[in-house]
Amino acid sequence: MIGEAERAGATWELHYGGRDRTSMAFIDELERYGDRVHIVTESVDGILDLATLLGTAEPDTLVYACGPDGLLTAIESYSEAWPADAIHLERFKAKERVADAGGDAPFRVVCEQSGVSATVSPEKTILETLEESGVNVPNSCREGICGTCETRVLCGTPDHRDSLLTASEQESGATIMLCVSRAGSDELVLDL
Ligand code: FES
Repeated sequence: MIGEAERAGATWELHYGGRDRTSMAFIDELERYGDRVHIVTESVDGILDLATLLGTAEPDTLVYACGPDGLLTAIESYSEAWPADAIHLERFKAKERVADAGGDAPFRVVCEQSGVSATVSPEKTILETLEESGVNVPNSCREGICGTCETRVLCGTPDHRDSLLTASEQESGATIMLCVSRAGSDELVLDL
């Protein structure tokens, strides 16, 4: 990400928290960037000061964070004043989700480019159903946290269950993570 930010000429800073330097990866590489990298070790400095870092919503600024659930939950609560699309959280594991008491309903999925269509049963994901139908979709985590299977939705309403898209990205319904999300309409047409 730092490489990309550098290539794009973006202004960036990194706040990297960990228990102590011996348990933190990439320290030597990161320190080459000088005062744009802030290494915060719990054993010496305490924990990341999220109240100061996120206390004021900065214009034209995006926040990307990854780490354990507790840290990301704290970031969500400290960043309430920020625009929803400014905060991007990458989780190590999927968010807990309360299952719908009525269970999942089957729906139709149509792949516009290949012409393949299939019914997604309550027991299967869209990704599994498409794989069984011979449609190859790049994927990795199969938990809705990495974004590899993100696919454009051409028609229909996604029922988002991923842990990656922001609230407004989910609301727009433009893309869907096929490994976990389902349909809120009888049919979904995908750009596949
Ligand atoms: S495979 Fe990772 S989000 Fe779907």
